[in-house]
Amino acid sequence: MKDLSALVSNNHNQNVEELKELLRIPSISSLSEHKEDIQKAASWIANKLESIGMEHVEIIQTNGHPIIYGDWLHQENAPTVLVYGHYDVQPVDPIHLWETPPFEPTIRDEKIFARGATDDKGQTFLHIKAVETLLKLENKLPVNVKFCIEGEEEIGSPNLSPFLFDHKEKLSCDVVVISDSDMWDKGIPAITYSLRGLCSLEFSLKTANSDLHSGMFGGGVQNANHLLVQLLSTLHDANGKINVDHFYDDVVELTEFEKEQIKALGLDEEKLKRSLGLTDLTGGENNFPYPERISSRPTLEINGLWGGFQGEGTKTVIPNEAHAKITCRLVNNQNPEKIQGLIKKHLEEHAPKGCTVKVSLRDIGNPFLTPIDSPMIKKAAQAYQNVYGKAPVYKREGGSIPIVSDFNQSLDVPVVLMGFGLPDENLHAPNEHFNLENFDKGILTICSFLELLND
Ligand code: BES
Ligand code: MN
Ligand code: MN
Repeated sequence: MKDLSALVSNNHNQNVEELKELLRIPSISSLSEHKEDIQKAASWIANKLESIGMEHVEIIQTNGHPIIYGDWLHQENAPTVLVYGHYDVQPVDPIHLWETPPFEPTIRDEKIFARGATDDKGQTFLHIKAVETLLKLENKLPVNVKFCIEGEEEIGSPNLSPFLFDHKEKLSCDVVVISDSDMWDKGIPAITYSLRGLCSLEFSLKTANSDLHSGMFGGGVQNANHLLVQLLSTLHDANGKINVDHFYDDVVELTEFEKEQIKALGLDEEKLKRSLGLTDLTGGENNFPYPERISSRPTLEINGLWGGFQGEGTKTVIPNEAHAKITCRLVNNQNPEKIQGLIKKHLEEHAPKGCTVKVSLRDIGNPFLTPIDSPMIKKAAQAYQNVYGKAPVYKREGGSIPIVSDFNQSLDVPVVLMGFGLPDENLHAPNEHFNLENFDKGILTICSFLELLND
């Protein structure tokens, strides 16, 4: 352990420089103009895996962005760990709010700023460095390791999902480990044992066959914007509960014990309000505490709505169409496709008189929940304890990593979510960053986890 931490800290600067190379590649998966950058990032990762001593390294092309595979399988009687991460990133807008450009990684206050710094290039890189460090030191690893790194997480992993089910043998392992989540707070590690699922849909509402003059027709015909607002207002009741029939049917309620645990984490709501510039935290279901609402309860959010005139000045028009985008965060045991169906039905049945509603179903992702007393989770907890000197807290995450449930189901193995991000690192937002104190510690924690797996 001593040699290990010396090696990690001696290589700190070099390691950070390497991460900067990866962060300079604008691998935004949702924008087609970045297709080449995605390939560049994939090659960069594949080359890095080869250079640290991984074997069978492949860039696997898909109908979308490539998956990178590599392994080291020379510990015959030891378990096999599969490391998952993603090298794709979110778009960078609004760009003018970045203090330094998103793809020019910069260090300020012991933090590295760049798109992907924490989500998820930085965290994935910790695993590559952990394996490299162990191989340098011992010429071998304590366990067998497989890497599976994808470029489509931020668009819902459409190609990795079928790949897992088609390549069970290739990916077979004893545990999947993922660093794509966060710690509880500075110095307080966390193991995430639940992720919310997700489903999305879009709809258009149409009235007359064209926009109409509001002087000639106003007061006599329906306005699509008004009907849109009317329809959207049927989705929640006055207490913030989702008003869609059967929406909650499959929700597994928290036990009293879990509720106590969540409360005991002691989320500081006053501090949170101040940092968000809010006067209250009253979104969602009124009769549930805030920490439960953001982690263990399902939601239905209107993410976008448009219709009518948006340009400069006034336009006396009655719009004939209006649109909205909706996503839900889902919890165990909700089925995203079933929920999409329920919402579609609700929108169609509640369509106000005088309009037609056309609903399109979009992405889905399953929720994930794993027991916290599994042996693999215990080893991860021990690893955190060894490096941070503190036991991790166990938390339910409100965000989604849809592929996690697929790993769990296709390979039938536990998934351990060991995060090294911090909750205020601006993922998906301007000025995303990663705290460098969790860089060396992250590498060491992963090394410790791999060693503990072979105990
Ligand atoms: N790494 C995040 C999920 C996450 C966020 C985990 C915060 C823990 C804490 C992941 O990259 C992500 O952004 N997921 C998307 C899912 C999607 C676009 C299908 C999400 O949650 O919105
Ligand atoms: Mn991520
Ligand atoms: Mn993300």
